[in-house]
Amino acid sequence: MESFEYTAHASRVIFGAGTLVRLREEAERLGATRVLVLGRRADHAAGVLGALAVARFEGVVMHTPIEVSERALEVVAAHDADCLVSVGGGSSTGLGKALAARTGLPQIAVPTTYAGSEMTPIVGETAGGTKRTRSDPALVPATVLYDVDLTLGLPVGLSVTSGLNAMAHAVEALCAHRAGPVVDSFALEAITRLARALPLIADRPADRDARADALVGAWLAGLCLGAAGAGLHHKLCHVLGGSFGLPHSETHAVLLSHVMAHHAAAEPEAMRRIATALGATDAPTAVFDLATRLGAPGSLVELGLAEADLPTVAARAAAPDALGLLGEAWRGDRPAAADDRPDLSGLTAQVVAGFAGAADPRVAALLGDLVQRLHGFVVDNDLTEDEWKTAIDFLTRTGQLCSSTRQEFVLLSDTLGISSAVDLLTNSRSPDTTPSAVLGPFYVEGPPAVPSGTDLAEGLPGVPLRADISITDLDGRPVPDAVVDVWQSNQDGFYDVQLPDLEGPVLRARLRGDADGRLWFRSILPSAYPIPDDGPVGQMLRATGRHPYRAPHLHFMISAPGHQRLITQLFVAGGPYLDSDAVFGVKDELIVDFPPGPDGGRTVAFTFRLGSANA
Ligand code: BEZ
Ligand code: FE
Repeated sequence: MESFEYTAHASRVIFGAGTLVRLREEAERLGATRVLVLGRRADHAAGVLGALAVARFEGVVMHTPIEVSERALEVVAAHDADCLVSVGGGSSTGLGKALAARTGLPQIAVPTTYAGSEMTPIVGETAGGTKRTRSDPALVPATVLYDVDLTLGLPVGLSVTSGLNAMAHAVEALCAHRAGPVVDSFALEAITRLARALPLIADRPADRDARADALVGAWLAGLCLGAAGAGLHHKLCHVLGGSFGLPHSETHAVLLSHVMAHHAAAEPEAMRRIATALGATDAPTAVFDLATRLGAPGSLVELGLAEADLPTVAARAAAPDALGLLGEAWRGDRPAAADDRPDLSGLTAQVVAGFAGAADPRVAALLGDLVQRLHGFVVDNDLTEDEWKTAIDFLTRTGQLCSSTRQEFVLLSDTLGISSAVDLLTNSRSPDTTPSAVLGPFYVEGPPAVPSGTDLAEGLPGVPLRADISITDLDGRPVPDAVVDVWQSNQDGFYDVQLPDLEGPVLRARLRGDADGRLWFRSILPSAYPIPDDGPVGQMLRATGRHPYRAPHLHFMISAPGHQRLITQLFVAGGPYLDSDAVFGVKDELIVDFPPGPDGGRTVAFTFRLGSANA
């Protein structure tokens, strides 16, 4: 059973392209009259604020050194500021929080990178070479204004490392115990978006859609960090940044895959979900390969760390067992794949690309998707050669059993619920029409036409039944002249076509509704029956502990001019197998009372509602 703790940190979020123009209005909403603008490239923001912006502080420094915060604090006091607007990456946002922690002033964050700090109650401050974090819900900016346009010019290198920094928030949240389903779903969505957007941004940095995708990913990742907190990865990055001066987002980018590999054995489920979000089989190597492909720095040595410092890093992060992963990250080794299955994505892409020449694009789309899912099925289940051989043998025998009187493939589709699924999608899209149900294999074209009131059982044994049928349109108006084909099993559960000794069709007929949309017939109560189970489908049912029975039912095919044809079934309420029909054909609306009649038999009265042919 799951157990978790979840704290939502409320901020107002404005997201879109060109949203910076709303900055003044947002400041006024907070009651601001004297705004201090923090950040190096904040001219545009200050311009929008106009007279509200009483001061600027541009000396933002990475890792939020307290000397810098103290200088900025003097500016707050000198100008009697009553609101802080931070524009920029994590360093600007961090300074805003550091000042808010000391003054209690409300903040608006305008993030221009993917750092995500704006969504967290955490600030990491550096003093005397040590970075300390503090967490306080009061530090979460009151308003966060995301303007996609402000990220269009973010250099590719910084976009990539900052995006990987965001991905690290999401990865750590998924590895954090008790983060809970809300945070998990944010995290997976963040990883999916960032992994999708970053390669596009690396190719076309001004692609607005990709930038928006990444910025939403960064927002969600920031929410993850805010809700789930920092784990080993962030602790190591803090030490590397605060004590050794390593650049923030680059350090995240280098370290992430190695920390993931370190977690992999203990967190197989998290890694499986991350791998799926990345569209890969092994999460740590997929992140390493993504970072490499995008040109992110590959090692801590590249970032200027001395190998001799690694034990100090591990010790300061209180993570002695991280020394191994730090060594790998320092050298830039590709992490060993926890999952040693070969990556099939190239093969899958090759097969899918092979359909591109199909004359009908729908053929290419359906086959491409089918191949993708089948390859995914093979990979996810680590399918063995023996298992695949068994499947091929099963399908071969299914095909060999097919003839003009036996369709084992249709039966397979029925028993896997596919026929019902396709039927639902095709014929039951309107909630107002009578639901459809599968045709089944026992319909025979051109049943004998008989007048209303005929006994379809022609004296066969069984519980007598009288059926009164009405056919209306969706407004309840009678539909005249409907052609109604009815077919059903006998008392022993057999259709006439299954009984070769029987002469002529029985328990099947074509009736015609009158001008008021009515008809009636006599018959016998249908019984439950097993679908043919002497072939591979029966073998599948037995192997999975399923029975082959269909709940007792009458089949109907109703056609009327100007209306949609309806193929459906009526099920006998209280009958067996309603909850476990072998072909998944039962729908609540089609379960009908068959109350006792005057002759000791049973009756049924039902109104079928047909949709208009023009709908
Ligand atoms: C039937 O109801 O006749 C039927 C439907 C699907 C499979 C087998 C039988
Ligand atoms: Fe049937």
